[in-house]
Amino acid sequence: ALQNKYSIATMGADGIGPEVVDASVQVMKKLVELDGSFELAFENFDWSSDTYKKTGKYIPDGGLDALKKHDAILFGAVGAPDVPDHISLWGLRLAICQPFQQYANVRPTKIFRGTSSPLRKAEHGDLDWVIIRENSEGEYAGQGGRSHRGQPWETATEVAIFSRHGVERIMRFAFESAQKRPRKLLTVVTKSNAQRNGMVLWDEVAAEVAKEFPDVKWDKMLVDAMTCRMVLDPKSLDTIVATNLHADILSDLAAALAGSIGIAPTSNLDPTRQNPSMFEPIHGSAFDITGKGVANPVATFWTAAEMLTWLGEEEAAKKMMEAVEAVTERGITTRDLGGSAGTKEVTDAVCQELEKVY
Ligand code: NAI
Ligand code: MG
Repeated sequence: ALQNKYSIATMGADGIGPEVVDASVQVMKKLVELDGSFELAFENFDWSSDTYKKTGKYIPDGGLDALKKHDAILFGAVGAPDVPDHISLWGLRLAICQPFQQYANVRPTKIFRGTSSPLRKAEHGDLDWVIIRENSEGEYAGQGGRSHRGQPWETATEVAIFSRHGVERIMRFAFESAQKRPRKLLTVVTKSNAQRNGMVLWDEVAAEVAKEFPDVKWDKMLVDAMTCRMVLDPKSLDTIVATNLHADILSDLAAALAGSIGIAPTSNLDPTRQNPSMFEPIHGSAFDITGKGVANPVATFWTAAEMLTWLGEEEAAKKMMEAVEAVTERGITTRDLGGSAGTKEVTDAVCQELEKVY
């Protein structure tokens, strides 16, 4: 038996999620067949908004224990037109990220060969970023409440949490990530001029952790000014770290600047590796195109490649991305990238391209 055998939990969940997850399982099976140096076992979990509508829960009792037995989770997207988004998000995605301590959310972005950026001056190679999003606290920690419901004086709070522990671990992860990339360049996004408690702690801890990484060059940007810099001077950026909320917004901007939200992946990592990490495309369930066979599977292909890299199969992941980029370069793309191919055509083309890469 092979040493490198990984068990993957797949969970397409809602909308186009199952379509793009199935497509990437097809590509990974091809990859394993051609590569021969590692094995993947897939187990599908059918938790979705339908489960919620039938049972009142997204995750059945004992579900997290079953999930925890796997080496990684490949997730699609959650969200249905008839379920409020805060119920679906907290019911499934955050209900996995938080107990599994997936505190680092990593979002690489680049301009693929054969695709174009809406930025007039940016070409392939000019925009190559990794955004690291704090994934456990900040504005999405779940602290806050609502009182005096329905009254004119109704009040709601959403408290942003910044703990020294939480900030330190994400800063260390960000500096390590920057150090591993050729440019060794990190931009710390903040808003400490206006938010004078949490964000000032954020800045102070960044400066402390920076001392452990003398070879990493770093700078600090206010989040509003950061949006301008991303648009006007994309080449000046490499690795970026930001709070849960700031990075959520900046990474959608990043994906749009790179060409489409249909290509961008994200990893929810437990860097301690005590729990499985979860990998997903950044897009949502896209009910406007569900079932039409036109969803761009490239984001989930890149997602799968990120998962394989995390598991230690970096060479195979690189080959998979070579095949994906060869396909975009040949112009076999879905509508969001200006092409006319469907999900299946793109997927089959990647499988064929893989044969050439091996
Ligand atoms: P969305 O990402 O689902 O769709 C935005 C637009 O991009 C749509 O026009 C859609 O057709 C297009 N699009 C998205 N992915 C695409 C792909 N792979 N190929 C081609 N076109 C693609 O965002 P939206 O519409 O705001 O949200 C829909 C649902 O998804 C909501 O319920 C939302 O809460 C949920 N959502 C879930 C996420 C997750 O599970 N992590 C992330 C974002 C949204
Ligand atoms: Mg988002």
